[in-house]
Amino acid sequence: MPSISDCKCVLVIGSTGGIGRALALAILDLPSKPTVIVCGRRKERLEELVASHHATGRLKSVTLDVLLERNALKSSIEEIVNTYPDLDAVLFSSGIQRGFNFTRPETIDLDSLERELTTNYTSIVRMITFFLPHLIKLGQGRPTFLYTVSSGLSIVPAAGVPGYCATKAAIHSLSISLAVQLKRKNVHVVEIIPPLVESELHDLEGSTEGLARYWLTLEEYTKETMEGLIRGDPYVPAGRVVERHRKFEGGKLEAAAKMYGQF
Ligand SMILES: NC(=O)c1ccc[n+]([C@@H]2O[C@H](COP(=O)([O-])OP(=O)(O)OC[C@H]3O[C@@H](n4cnc5c(N)ncnc54)[C@H](OP(=O)(O)O)[C@@H]3O)[C@@H](O)[C@H]2O)c1
Repeated sequence: MPSISDCKCVLVIGSTGGIGRALALAILDLPSKPTVIVCGRRKERLEELVASHHATGRLKSVTLDVLLERNALKSSIEEIVNTYPDLDAVLFSSGIQRGFNFTRPETIDLDSLERELTTNYTSIVRMITFFLPHLIKLGQGRPTFLYTVSSGLSIVPAAGVPGYCATKAAIHSLSISLAVQLKRKNVHVVEIIPPLVESELHDLEGSTEGLARYWLTLEEYTKETMEGLIRGDPYVPAGRVVERHRKFEGGKLEAAAKMYGQF
């Protein structure tokens, strides 16, 4: 199976912290010695990360806000591809989470809800569309990869963060469809499905302290996820999401592939 170990150059969007940062550094450590590009809005964090791994000569950075207007986002992606023509994998870890209480509709901040939707779903579809011409072309010679990041909450939602769960369910469904479509182009779409993991995701909602009792540490999470990525698994759940995925999602990717072949 083609896997992360085949990649020469991996861009990790949303790697100034949390899961993206941890996976970017683990990928940098692979024996295959890929170039890794860390990416996000916080330039100082990117600079710090690159400086602390300067010795490898393989950690690069690019500043990007995925909420850029569509044409500006397209130009930024084209610039990345032109700068790194060997880019053969993109991992989309950028994401935000907000709580909404629909029993008090007057409190729903639709600007915030729509920003969450654009960050977690719309921007990802846009970026995938803009990266694909390059990845499909490169795919004629060697495998290329799109790594999406959904969530265990795409399978069973947490009602307190309803918009977030819906965006992750959308990413989950999109990942299956694109995996089925793009396989014939040698572009491999792999869905990473984290459980609750140590990160800054919940800081804004003030729930970090409570959740910290239940989360996987970044170290535990990264180890398990890298094993799946190295094996070349088509989807990579971890922790308690492994069982949840098996129970509710088992056979779905295969069923979608069969249906696509039929029509
Ligand atoms: N932690 C969990 O429990 C958990 C569980 C399941 C799924 N996930 C998913 O895992 C992914 C990573 O989350 P995390 O837990 O690592 O959270 P995190 O620590 O808050 O990291 C989020 C990352 O997203 C980036 N980001 C947010 N908005 C962005 C924007 N407009 N443009 C560019 N980058 C942006 C941030 O970078 P800047 O702020 O520097 O831009 C940061 O690097 C997310 O998709 C999340 O939904 C997390």
